[in-house]
Amino acid sequence: MQRRFLSTYRALQHENPLGLPRSSTPPQMPRMQRGLPEKRNIREVKKVVAVSSAKGGVGKSTIAVNMALSFAQKGLRSGILDTDIFGPSIPTLMNLEGEPRLSDRSMLVPLANYGVKSMSMGYLVGADAPVVWRGLMVIKALQQLLHEVEWGGLDVLVLDLPPGTGDVQLTITQQVKVDGAVVISTPQDIALRDAIKGVNMFKKVNVPILGMVQNMSTFCCPKCGHRTSIFNPSASESSSLSSSVFESPLTRACTEQGIPFLGDVPLHARICADSDSGKPTVVAEPESERARAFAEIAEGVGKKLKLF
Ligand SMILES: Nc1ncnc2c1ncn2[C@@H]1O[C@H](COP(=O)(O)OP(=O)(O)OP(=O)(O)O)[C@@H](O)[C@H]1O
Ligand SMILES: [Mg+2]
Repeated sequence: MQRRFLSTYRALQHENPLGLPRSSTPPQMPRMQRGLPEKRNIREVKKVVAVSSAKGGVGKSTIAVNMALSFAQKGLRSGILDTDIFGPSIPTLMNLEGEPRLSDRSMLVPLANYGVKSMSMGYLVGADAPVVWRGLMVIKALQQLLHEVEWGGLDVLVLDLPPGTGDVQLTITQQVKVDGAVVISTPQDIALRDAIKGVNMFKKVNVPILGMVQNMSTFCCPKCGHRTSIFNPSASESSSLSSSVFESPLTRACTEQGIPFLGDVPLHARICADSDSGKPTVVAEPESERARAFAEIAEGVGKKLKLF
């Protein structure tokens, strides 16, 4: 009898853990929240770092997850929050699924793998279910992901942001204290322009820019080891940067604008395969050169945030 009561109770609690409306009626926001919202710390989290770019598909999620895992490998209590409501990637990258439990305080309990705690909309709606919502509902869900997760004490929480400089980015930067932002770009001009928009957005909302990361700029031939700067064939290896970095519009923009350059992740088929298999590079091949690229970025970010 007691067991049946408990399972019914649990089923009821799990039915709609975010308390999100199922009908098309948008949730009612308290009047206060329609004006300037109050900025709060994320509960039980010491430092928050946002991984962002206004451009889609440049490797934000890949770099965010490898960064969170690198922090854990360095002995920090690390977590990752997927703030991409429409296209969450963290369940795949962390090889996690299933509805989160609710704690005694009715907070969502993160799912964990490889020593990193995580929360994502993907756990709540299922792998292939589309989220077909208007902006207000997205913001309501995001607020709950920001404020109603029981992290249980973290040194650092990495926020994996969706592309753009819209509602989600503004809600995050207005509602929680973000200690720093890492902006990702690929080396093409068109991606860099969007990345710079992202940098300027963070400046506008007074979030410190920790630096920029260049992704997929060089291809290293697995047979002969020759490195090619695929988007910029005339590029020369930069003497002012680390010896393995090609000069590109991004590295030049960093120098010109005084933005720290945090590192360069090569284009490598294994990075994509590791991600797809749910075992990101720093866990799957920790000794590889590409894992070291991710670890060095985490090291740079950690130092700037005084995590070590
Ligand atoms: N350095 C890399 N080498 C090879 N593949 C990569 C690399 N970085 C990212 N990828 C692959 O590129 C694709 C896009 O990466 P990812 O999902 O991390 O980008 P994103 O910026 O988070 O995208 P979105 O804007 O949709 O959130 C993925 O398939 C990923 O595995
Ligand atoms: Mg992503």
